Amino acid sequence: MMMSGRERFLRALSCEPVDRPPVWLMRQAGRTLPEYRALRAEHDFLALMKTPALAAEATLQPIRRFGMDGAVLFSDILVIPEAMGLGLTFEKGEGPVIAPTLEQAPTLRSVAPARDLAWQADAIRLVREEVRDRQAILGFAGAPFTLLCYMTERPGKTSSAGAKRWLFEDPVRGLRMLDRLADEVIATLLHQIAAGADAVQLFDTWAGDLAPEDYHRFAHPVNSRIVNEVAKKAPILLYLKNGAHLLDDALASRAPALAVDWRVDLPALARRIDASGRKVALQGNLDPDWLLAPPDAIRRKVEDLHAAMAGRTGHIFNLGHGLHPFTPVEGIAAFVQAVQGLGGDR
Ligand code: CP3
Repeated sequence: MMMSGRERFLRALSCEPVDRPPVWLMRQAGRTLPEYRALRAEHDFLALMKTPALAAEATLQPIRRFGMDGAVLFSDILVIPEAMGLGLTFEKGEGPVIAPTLEQAPTLRSVAPARDLAWQADAIRLVREEVRDRQAILGFAGAPFTLLCYMTERPGKTSSAGAKRWLFEDPVRGLRMLDRLADEVIATLLHQIAAGADAVQLFDTWAGDLAPEDYHRFAHPVNSRIVNEVAKKAPILLYLKNGAHLLDDALASRAPALAVDWRVDLPALARRIDASGRKVALQGNLDPDWLLAPPDAIRRKVEDLHAAMAGRTGHIFNLGHGLHPFTPVEGIAAFVQAVQGLGGDR
């Protein structure tokens, strides 16, 4: 039986059998694609994101080229801090810059998604008109700790020391800020779901910088709260980058799906979860650098992981982190085609 990408994706998220595992890639839209570079030559990144027709176009570009099963909204995690009143710019070759930082801007606004992020909903609706049931649409937001990493000053240009200083020098204030961010994240994700997102991913890209006890104290409570509020409306994937030491908390969050990076032994994690009798979907987890290898090597890597998952229901193929800007288009094509050629679960 041949399934639509949307059905395949949603069934895998609820650990039901599929004709083959679904696939999408973090950062599938963007600088790896010549058609994206052409768009970017005419519009700056924030304008692209906030103009629904252009955001929909950027969302759809990788889908048209590769036919992934999931279309991830073209946006950014930093639109929440921006909507809270911190200025956001993207400097060439520097990545995002937030100014003023949290240290410099004591009063923050509350995000009203219908007012501040209406363009996300409009872009989602435009994407739905084009993909119909062929793709699941994924919304997303940054997790509170990861947002804090970009909102605070970044001593030495490392991205988590400023956030950790903010938490460690005054834990009560720190926890209050994370809670506040969690409220904004929940409102944003629910806004995306109301507009038609089928599932959402919570990106805790910097979680792995925290010691297990600090993740447990600072990040785990807010991530669990977000997961539980949002999961009432749609499946949510919790992504902890570099989080092999945080898996107990990740599982304890009760997230219906976990996205893990390549430092985790995914088949072993699957066996551990399955032995506990719980149903948790897993997403991942090739090292993005594998896409720099020749197509045959990429295909073998995909087939090996699929074989090692041994027919487990509830596996979504992805990388362990986003594509590099320099990932060759042939590497992406080989990865997606290899998954599209796989057989189904039992
Ligand atoms: O294809 C997609 O995944 C679509 C949307 C998406 C973007 N950013 C677009 C983007 C998503 C899901 C993100 C998430 C994001 N943004 C994260 C979490 C995931 C991760 O990769 O760790 C983080 C930490 C950010 C913040 C951010 N935005 C950074 C650090 C950068 C600069 C680094 C980089 O790779 O360029 C961005 C810019 C950004 N976000 C671009 C895109 C397509 C590049 C913009 C451009 O130069 O054209």
